Amino acid sequence: MDRVIDFINVNRERYLDELKALLAIPSISALPEHKADVTRCAAWCGDEMRRVGLQNVKLIDTPGFPVVYGDWLGAPGAPTILFYGHYDVQPVDPLDLWETPPFEATVRDGEIYARGSADDKGQVFMHLKAVEAHLKQNGKLPVNIKFMLEGEEEVGSEHLDDFVRGHKADLTADVVVISDSPMFARGVPSICYGLRGLVYFQIDLRGSSTDLHSGSFGGAVANPGFVLAQMIAQMKDRGGHIKIPGFYDDVKPLDEAERKAWASLPFNEKTYKKDFGIPKLFGETDYTTLERTWARPTLEVNGLLSGFTGEGAKTVLPAVAMAKISMRLVPNQDPNTIADLFQAYVEKLAPKTVQIKVTRMHGGKPWMTSYENPYVQAAGRAIEKGFGRQPIFTREGGSIPVVSTFQEELGLPSVLFGVGLPDENAHAPNEKLDVSNFHNGIISSAYLYDEISRTK
Ligand code: BES
Ligand code: MN
Ligand code: MN
Repeated sequence: MDRVIDFINVNRERYLDELKALLAIPSISALPEHKADVTRCAAWCGDEMRRVGLQNVKLIDTPGFPVVYGDWLGAPGAPTILFYGHYDVQPVDPLDLWETPPFEATVRDGEIYARGSADDKGQVFMHLKAVEAHLKQNGKLPVNIKFMLEGEEEVGSEHLDDFVRGHKADLTADVVVISDSPMFARGVPSICYGLRGLVYFQIDLRGSSTDLHSGSFGGAVANPGFVLAQMIAQMKDRGGHIKIPGFYDDVKPLDEAERKAWASLPFNEKTYKKDFGIPKLFGETDYTTLERTWARPTLEVNGLLSGFTGEGAKTVLPAVAMAKISMRLVPNQDPNTIADLFQAYVEKLAPKTVQIKVTRMHGGKPWMTSYENPYVQAAGRAIEKGFGRQPIFTREGGSIPVVSTFQEELGLPSVLFGVGLPDENAHAPNEKLDVSNFHNGIISSAYLYDEISRTK
């Protein structure tokens, strides 16, 4: 292992330069005008896999963007890791809030700024570099490894479940490793053992065939903007409790041991509020902030649109209103069941004065594992070597839809070891990755393969 770690230390600067090349590709999966960039990014990842010494590298087509696959299977008898990550990124708007261009990675104050630096290219790259270090120094890895990178994670991994079902034999492994989540705090490395699930909807209301003069028609014709606001107001009460009948039926209550463990984590509400400019925290009564985001479901308005939103004033009765609404789910809520409950509730809420269209978009199941799992423990030892400090165990509020699919379809546990930070600005302007976390992440990843080789 010493030779491997030396290699990583010596190549520290080169890694950053190479990562910059990956971050320069605007692989925004949500935007049709970037289709060619996403595909180009897949090709880049395949080339990089070959450069680090992976074999059987191929771009496997799906009805959406390709899955990039590469493996190294030269350790018969040793465990096999299935590494998952994504090469697509989120859109960059609002662009004017970026201090440096999102696709020209820039290092400032020990952070590398670019879209995808933390979510997820930088974290995927860590593992590729750890593989490279093992292969270049020792000519082999202590484990077998299969890399699988997708290009549709940020748009809901629509084709990935079918992909996994269709490639079961190619994806056999002992454990999944993923780095696509933040650490608990700066200097506090973490392993995440739970994710929330998701269901996402768009609601469109129409109150008339065209916009109307609000003086001539106002008072006699329902305003879809207003109707939508009233409907949304009935989805959640002022205490954060979701009012959809049956919504909480399958929610697994928090267990006391977990609550106690989380209460002792170094979480400070004051700094949290200050860091994110939050005047006062909000949420379900009787739950702490960590409990609210890690273990309780929520319903959020992700976008809202109606009427005149430009500068100045315009009197108008808008013809349409639109909202994007998503719900984060926790074990044992099922996205299909919740989607049905939501749809029925929304249709009931809508008055006859408007036409309503409810469109279900993507979703994913919640996921949770036990931190007593031997692979999770192996990751704990590796991270301690990489970061000089024992990791803590967290759950997260975000979603990675395929994690539960790996569990259900392949029977595989997942180890989520992320090196982002809570203020990494994922999905926001000025996304960044801490350079020393990136470096320590490569070292941890190199140790992880070593630790897993001794776990069965
Ligand atoms: N890396 C995130 C998931 C994540 C975020 C895990 C925070 C842990 C903490 C991932 O890229 C993501 O953004 N997922 C989407 C999923 C959705 C598009 C189906 C999410 O959580 O909104
Ligand atoms: Mn991600
Ligand atoms: Mn993301």
